[in-house]
Amino acid sequence: MSVESQAGRGPEIENLLAEKRTFPPDPAFTARANVTAAIYDEANADYVGFWERQAKERLSWYTPFGETLQWDLPDAKWFVGGELNVAYNCVDRHVERGLGDRVAYHWIGEPGDTRTLTYADLLREVSKAANALLELGVRTGDRVAIYLPMIPELPIAMLACARIGAPHTVVFGGFSAEALSGRINDCGAKVLITADGGWRRGKKVGLKHHADEACTDAPTIEHVIVVDRFGDGVHMVPRRDHWWHDIVDRQSESCPPVPVDAEHMLYLLYTSGTTAKPKGILHTSAGYLLGSAFTHWAVFDIKPDDVYWCAADIGWVTGHSYIVYGPLANASTGIIYEGAPDTPEWDRWWQIVEDYKVTILYTAPTAIRAFMKQGETHPAGHDLSSLRLLGSVGEPINPEAWRWYREVIGGDRVPVVDTWWQTETGMILISPLPGVTTTKPGSATFPMPGIEADVVDADGRSVPLGGGGYLVLKRPWPAMLRGIYGDPERYRQTYWSRFPGMYFAGDGAKRDEEGYLWLLGRVDDVMNVAGHRISTTEVESALVDHRSVAEAAVVGKTDAISGQAIFAFVILKAGQQPSDALGVQLREHVAYVIGPIARPKYLMFVPDLPKTRSGKIMRRLLRDIAEGRALGDVTTLADANVVDTIRSNTGQAEEE
Ligand code: WT7
Repeated sequence: MSVESQAGRGPEIENLLAEKRTFPPDPAFTARANVTAAIYDEANADYVGFWERQAKERLSWYTPFGETLQWDLPDAKWFVGGELNVAYNCVDRHVERGLGDRVAYHWIGEPGDTRTLTYADLLREVSKAANALLELGVRTGDRVAIYLPMIPELPIAMLACARIGAPHTVVFGGFSAEALSGRINDCGAKVLITADGGWRRGKKVGLKHHADEACTDAPTIEHVIVVDRFGDGVHMVPRRDHWWHDIVDRQSESCPPVPVDAEHMLYLLYTSGTTAKPKGILHTSAGYLLGSAFTHWAVFDIKPDDVYWCAADIGWVTGHSYIVYGPLANASTGIIYEGAPDTPEWDRWWQIVEDYKVTILYTAPTAIRAFMKQGETHPAGHDLSSLRLLGSVGEPINPEAWRWYREVIGGDRVPVVDTWWQTETGMILISPLPGVTTTKPGSATFPMPGIEADVVDADGRSVPLGGGGYLVLKRPWPAMLRGIYGDPERYRQTYWSRFPGMYFAGDGAKRDEEGYLWLLGRVDDVMNVAGHRISTTEVESALVDHRSVAEAAVVGKTDAISGQAIFAFVILKAGQQPSDALGVQLREHVAYVIGPIARPKYLMFVPDLPKTRSGKIMRRLLRDIAEGRALGDVTTLADANVVDTIRSNTGQAEEE
C-alpha cells in the first residue's frame, strides 16, 4: 500500500500504466495541414474572441450577432441576437457558391444498392421534405421524432426539420417501441418519420411495427411519414400514415429556410446507456453548428477532395455532429453505409475504403477490437492506401488497439486521432491535431484550442502532473448542451454541482508528466483494491496488450480482504483456446505491465460482452454477474443472450 493511502487520503485514481512510445506528426502532413500550433495560443489568449472570429468566418448569418457569449453558470448563450438557418448553412450556400455537383454522400446499402447525393440533390430533397412537414402542420418550434435506419432519408429528414426550425429527436433504429414512445412523450413530438425497416446482417429488420406500437402510447403524434425501404408493403393507418414517396415527392422543390435565433433548439438527443431515465440533451443552433464544423475541419484536416467516412450510426451524437452537421457545414464528401461490418464478410469496410478511395475513417474502439479479433487477412486483402487519417471515439482506446489501427489499417504511416467528447459536449473537446500534436497510443492528448480541461481531486483542486482524478471543464464552449429538456434542476445537479464553477463530465482521467491526458472511463467504474483506486481501463489495456487477447472488461468484486478484488472477463482472438495456463499467463502479464496490485484475482474467458447499442461495455451488468446478484435494468443491452451465456459460465470463473 502506498504511503499516501495509509495516511487515509490516496490519490483519486492511481496512475499505473505507462505508455512510452510517441508518434510525431509527419512533416509532409504538417506542411499541408489546416491548422498550425499557433492556433492554441491564439484561441487561449482570448477564447471568446476566438469563437467570435470563427463564427463570423464559418457561418452565414441573416442577422449578425451582438455579444459573443453571455455566461451565467450553468446557462450559456452564444452569439446573442444572431439569426441563421442551419440547413441553409449545410446545403444552400454551397450550391449558391457553385458546388451543387459536389457529392455530399455516397450511400451504400447493405445488400449492395447504392445512391449518390450531390449538394444540389440534397437541396431539392430537403426542401421537399420540409414542405411535407409544413403540409402536415409542423411549425417552427414543434418537435419531430425520427426513427430510421441508415438511409439517405435520415439526414434529409434532420435537415428538413432544421430548415423550418422544428427541433428533431432522432431515436436509434435499434431501440424498442417503449424507448421510442418514452422519448416522443418526453418532448411531445407531433410527427414521427420512420421506415418499413432496414437491412442488418443480411436480414430485413422491421421498424414500422415498433413505430405503430410506440404510437399507441404516444398521443401527441398526429402523423407518421414512412419511407419504403423494402417495397413489401406494411400496414398503414388511414389519415395518420403517409408514404414518404407520396407526400414528399409531390412537394415543391423550393422551401425558403426559416431564420431562427442562434439559441433556437436544433435538436434533442436522449442519452441512453448506464443511467436511469434517459435525459433529453438539448442542443441549439449556431453554437452547435460552429463547434461541430470547426472541430471537423481542424481534427480531420478536411479538404475539398477528401472522402470522409464516419462509421457511427446517425442515431448517436457522433453521427449528428460528424456525419451530418459538421461535415455538411464544411461542404465535404462523406460515406454512409447502412449495414453491419461483417456482412457479407468481415472485409466489408475495407472493400468500401478501396472502392470509394476513402481518405479519412472515424470509428470506435469496440469496432477496432472486433476487427483485431478477426486478424489481418481481411484488411490485407484490400488496397487501403487512400487512407491518410484515422480517428477513434466512444471509449478509451487501448494502446494495443491504437497501434493495430495505425499499423494494420493505416499502413503504419497515417496519424491516429483519439477524440474525447460526449453527447453533452456536442463537439470534440480533447484530441490531437494531426499536423501538430505528437501522439501517444491511448492518449487523447490535449484540450482543443479554446477549451480548458483540468484533472482535479475530490475537493476540486488541480492534480499535479503525473496524477489522476476527475476530468472537468472550466470554460463554456459553443456546442455545449444548453440543458436537459424540461428539467433545469437535473441539468444543474448532474453537470455543474459536483465541483463549483466547473462542468464535471463523469470521467476519470490522468495527466502524465508531459501534460498528456489519458481518459480512464466513467468514475463509477473505478475499483478500490486495498486502498488503491485503480481504473478498469488500465487493467483492460494491459490484458489487451497480450497477444492472445481481443477484448477485456474488468470490474471490482466485493472482497473480504481487499475491499474489492479485480474480476476480468476476457475475449480471446480468433484461433486462441482458453486454458488454465493461459489464465495464469494473463494475470502475470497484467502484474508485469502494471504491477502486482493490478493482478486480477478472478479471470473468466467469455465469447462476448454485454454492451449498449452504442458499443459501450455495461460494467454494471458484469458487476452483477461477478457478485452473483440479480441483474439490474437490461433495457439498453444490445444482445440479451450475451448475459445468459456469461452467467452459465460463471461457475467456471477461475480464482487465483
Ligand atoms: C462518454 C460519452 C462522443 C461520442 C460518443 C460517445 C466516453 C468518448 C472517448 C475517448 C475515452 C471516451 C467517455 C464519455 N468516451 N470518447 N476518446 N476516450 N473515453 O458519446 O454516449 O455521450 O458517451 O464516452 O466516458 O464521457 P456518449
